[in-house]
Amino acid sequence: MTTLLRLFRQWFPLWPDPLKWFEPLARFYRENADYHRMTSSGGKVDEPQTGVLSALIRPAGRYLEVGCGGGEVARDLARQAAVVACDYSSLALQRAANAKPDSLHLLQANAGKIPLGDATVDGAYSFEVLEHVWNPAEVVAEMIRVVRPGGFILLSVPNQFSLDWHLPKRWYARLLDLCLAGIRWTADRCRGRVFVNREPDLNGPVYADCDMVSCVIPRNLVRLMERSGCRVEFWDTGYMRAHKIGQQPGLDYQRRMTRPFWRNFGDHLLLLARKGKCSVFRSQCSVVRM
Ligand SMILES: C[S@@+](CC[C@H](N)C(=O)[O-])C[C@H]1O[C@@H](n2cnc3c(N)ncnc32)[C@H](O)[C@@H]1O
Repeated sequence: MTTLLRLFRQWFPLWPDPLKWFEPLARFYRENADYHRMTSSGGKVDEPQTGVLSALIRPAGRYLEVGCGGGEVARDLARQAAVVACDYSSLALQRAANAKPDSLHLLQANAGKIPLGDATVDGAYSFEVLEHVWNPAEVVAEMIRVVRPGGFILLSVPNQFSLDWHLPKRWYARLLDLCLAGIRWTADRCRGRVFVNREPDLNGPVYADCDMVSCVIPRNLVRLMERSGCRVEFWDTGYMRAHKIGQQPGLDYQRRMTRPFWRNFGDHLLLLARKGKCSVFRSQCSVVRM
């Protein structure tokens, strides 16, 4: 019964009131050193999204990282090009400032309101951050705004349709998972929703994604970006899994991939888009600022 209820809540979370979470979340990011220690514990530069990013970087370029955390990726990238990295948390930025090269500039900013001018960077990326903001579409809109036409937007974010394939589950829980995922997918596809909000879990011990407040719906985010004038080069939700089983899903690998099922139902979404000449991105939902 508990499994049933848990699975149901996973696929059909209640729509929480972001205003109720405004202060608790702000405090969490401001004060929880354990969280920032955990999210900057290393290993990020070996993950495939960082490999894809490296292949996109040009030495004379200027790039933006949204939600840099402890700054591991930004520091690595700043050895090749100029990088501006922003994060909401000053604790995270203190970590990022450690052994910071001159070509890395740190900004304390809310991802929903990036303090940079229009078309001022050659590319913007964000890894594992969109799930921590109430309105991921608003953050993507900001990323598109600050990127120059022809520049890239690279996103990596857990997928609502992650079926936790890597976790051991009993056959009936797996079957139920599949059925609920199917219903959810059909409902969201029809409604064109780009994300679904959920309540974070801030009171227990810190664990990965305890501060998760939204789930992006990959296919609908892709459609929204295309409607906004971006050209989506690839999107796929199988790359984390491919990485875990020893494949190296780099840029070329991703560009060759066409996996209709895994595109929607894999682990994390990896999406690469180019800003078109006249991209306009309007957020679908009400704006919630932290
Ligand atoms: C899971 S960590 C990811 C950090 C880093 N991108 C990485 O992959 O190691 C999420 C980060 O998002 C930041 N964050 C959460 N909400 C934010 C917001 N509204 N604006 C900017 N950063 C935010 C948090 O402070 C945290 O550092």
